[in-house]
Amino acid sequence: MRIYREADYDAMSRRTAAIIAAEVVRKPDCVLGLATGSTPVGAYRQLAAWNREGLLSFRSVTSVNLDEYKGLGPDHDQSYRYFMDRNLFDHVDIRRDRTHVPDGLAADPEAECRRYDALVAALGGTDLQLLGLGHNGHIGFNEPGEAFVRETHVVDLTERTIEANARFFAHRDEVPRQALTMGIGAIMAAKRVLVAVSGADKAEAVRRAFAGPITPAVPASILQLHPDVVLVGDAAALSGLGEAAMPL
Ligand code: F6R
Repeated sequence: MRIYREADYDAMSRRTAAIIAAEVVRKPDCVLGLATGSTPVGAYRQLAAWNREGLLSFRSVTSVNLDEYKGLGPDHDQSYRYFMDRNLFDHVDIRRDRTHVPDGLAADPEAECRRYDALVAALGGTDLQLLGLGHNGHIGFNEPGEAFVRETHVVDLTERTIEANARFFAHRDEVPRQALTMGIGAIMAAKRVLVAVSGADKAEAVRRAFAGPITPAVPASILQLHPDVVLVGDAAALSGLGEAAMPL
């Protein structure tokens, strides 16, 4: 695993964006696995700036997002499709029909999960999968449990996740209780995984994910078995890793 320790959120965001940009330059028709949440917002802003300046083009890129709330459609301002449009896709030259997010409004969510896995497989998997990290060690919405779930699936969100996401909704009761999430199989099949973390509140999750035992109780810990993981964090988020996390 390669670890980049950056001073603060802005430096972490620039580093994350640079690694994504390097992939797009290396392989203009790459498949990017993308995440939502507060962590990647700065990286997406940087990518949009490089695109605007003509340094980077997403013209041939395909994207697949990790997850979507069950019951929220693209017009809902808390849906992950809406988030991706506003934070990245509206600002870069990616073709909209090559951006994929699970359909939170699918009449048959189980069928939608199977469709999503077939789509990712047909694309040949992701070249680079960007991940944030939940306080409870979740990746995508793969919540702590008794087993790693391989396929895309419908998941009941934990109270901790509902609590963490309530900040985006007018009222806690509005936070969806379920989501569709890519499974551990597709995440682990990514050719490269890029984990971005920021803030002291993530330090314990980072430590448990990368310096603790591999267990479905900490879903991100499975990444210890992936051959090509890059962890980018600010100093606060990486503080639990100690000397192992020296700058490159
Ligand atoms: C988002 C996702 C989640 C977040 C995680 C961290 O698509 O799948 O796993 O990456 O909850 O969220 P933030 O970045 O808001 O701390």
